[in-house]
Amino acid sequence: MVLKAELHTHLEGTASPELVKHLAHRNTMSLPTDLFNTDDTYKWTTFLEFLKAYDLASSVIKTPEDYRDVTYDYLKQCAQQNTIYVEVMSSPDHAAMAGMGYQDHLDGIVQGIEDAQRDFDIIGRIIVTCVRHLGPERSLVVAKQITGALHPFVVGFGMGGDENAHHPSDFAPAFNLCHEAGLPCNVHAGEMAGPESVHAALDHLPVKRIGHGVRSIEDSNLVQRLIDQNITLEVCPGSNIALGVYPNFAEHPFLKLKDAGCKVTLSSDDPPFFNTSISREYGIASEHFALSDDELIDITRTSLENSFADQKTKDKLL
Ligand code: ADE
Ligand code: ZN
Repeated sequence: MVLKAELHTHLEGTASPELVKHLAHRNTMSLPTDLFNTDDTYKWTTFLEFLKAYDLASSVIKTPEDYRDVTYDYLKQCAQQNTIYVEVMSSPDHAAMAGMGYQDHLDGIVQGIEDAQRDFDIIGRIIVTCVRHLGPERSLVVAKQITGALHPFVVGFGMGGDENAHHPSDFAPAFNLCHEAGLPCNVHAGEMAGPESVHAALDHLPVKRIGHGVRSIEDSNLVQRLIDQNITLEVCPGSNIALGVYPNFAEHPFLKLKDAGCKVTLSSDDPPFFNTSISREYGIASEHFALSDDELIDITRTSLENSFADQKTKDKLL
């Protein structure tokens, strides 16, 4: 049995169509019928349509109890897949769009993490994220919210959203604020844009990990830079195929990055949107990248070593 750990999953993007419909009903909201396919999966085709569907699904998470339930449900699923540690990225911007303040969103997630640890012996932690296409001003609001109310379960700061919007340097004030408050950072790059996007992120932001980063393979100098700067890549192969970054697993650069000496890990990103799960990602690595169980265990160890958890939590898990 391979124990698993996950560093890159968007909490709002973990809610299944079933749970989203349940929350919509509980909050007496109606959702556009074209959010779902007839087989009860999310309906989208392009990356920007995916982001729109993600926003709509998130709009039903309206109360601390909703956030608690989404968190608990996801950690329960992970525990059932032999996962011992998960970092979820939460989005106060999505909470705000649903009418909820930062503290209420955080309280709900913390409750979900505590309940899941009690019931399933899984450890969850939070990376609070800003959304790149919402712009630098919002990112600074989020950074101030985090640093103004530090919580031991909030272990990092990050940024998702449309990688082609704005420049990383625009977000330096938000990242520097969190970094100086002692929070390690990650950023999405090298997913929907090429190696220059990863270089720019490393040039301007104090990050220890890159979300995706797979297109770094196109620049050997960048691959060497990732190794030299000890950057961990949060690789999500199922997401990359679903979003069309690569046409198939045979062309996915996971093995090339690993063999070149990059620190690679495995995650599911937005599981119900991409028809995946952490266990499917490990399955993909076994089936398509021919990783042995020992190599999969090494991936889990890399995830735990490079998680943003405090040293005491890491010592317990490693
Ligand atoms: N937000 C949720 N999923 C994302 C992804 N795959 N890339 C960028 N932003 C995201
Ligand atoms: Zn992501």
